[in-house]
Amino acid sequence: MTEQQVQHLSQILRLDLHAYHPQQLQRLVTAFMQRNGFINLDDLISALRVDPKLRQNLLDSLGINITQFFRDPQMWDILAKEILPALLSEFKSLRIWSAGCSIGKEPYSLAALLYQFAPQGTHIIIATDIDETALTQAKKGEYPASDVKEIPPIYRPLFSVQNGLLVVPPTLKKFVKFQYLNLLSDPYPQGIHLLVCRNLLIYFRPEVKPRIFQGFAQSLVRGGVLFLGASEVLLNPSSYGFAPLQFGFYQKVL
Ligand SMILES: C[S@@+](CC[C@H](N)C(=O)[O-])C[C@H]1O[C@@H](n2cnc3c(N)ncnc32)[C@H](O)[C@@H]1O
Repeated sequence: MTEQQVQHLSQILRLDLHAYHPQQLQRLVTAFMQRNGFINLDDLISALRVDPKLRQNLLDSLGINITQFFRDPQMWDILAKEILPALLSEFKSLRIWSAGCSIGKEPYSLAALLYQFAPQGTHIIIATDIDETALTQAKKGEYPASDVKEIPPIYRPLFSVQNGLLVVPPTLKKFVKFQYLNLLSDPYPQGIHLLVCRNLLIYFRPEVKPRIFQGFAQSLVRGGVLFLGASEVLLNPSSYGFAPLQFGFYQKVL
């Protein structure tokens, strides 16, 4: 893939693909071309310019929007049983940031946890992404009813199923504020107690990660916690002022 092709694709998908692993990108785009009958990349690029459905299919194939409620449930269990109670006892009202929230399942899972602990709490979850289509769906808070199986049984009563849809009720929506934010170029929210950034940094080249982790460290208050995906590690956490807490969780200690 030439530099110019990466630039065109980035422009069309409104995604900075320079920050992504080149081999992974090449492999995923090649597989997409084979499935969709394209022999060369320039033909795909021309088709993408005029076909929004193809654009969305490519975004989906890049794995970029894949998400679930309570993804990796064992980690959410640790969050519910150990991390959140400790944060709530220290900070009372929490400011949480779900960075790369996709269609909203992650921030609504967080909202369900908060509601379980303190329905009247004045917590806020700032949920951000660069995909405007995903953000629009996230704000709606409606999913296929079959997605209810992703939600652990104890939290299911907090959601409702109406006319074949799983609906996020206002009691949970009230905690979440969705907004556009590009992790590679926009300023990060400050004063955060829990920063959830899962299954997004895996797509980035190693060179761009230190800047992001530095930004995360500045975003968090001392004692705040960073929550990563199950296949992501923060190498050298102490160089950013973090200490490992549990698998996938790091506390800002400096
Ligand atoms: C695989 S999804 C992960 C969703 C959720 N965090 C989870 O773990 O289920 C990754 C999300 O990151 C978003 N994303 C990709 N590049 C981004 C960037 N540069 N800044 C912010 N979000 C980005 C994508 O649009 C996508 O919604």
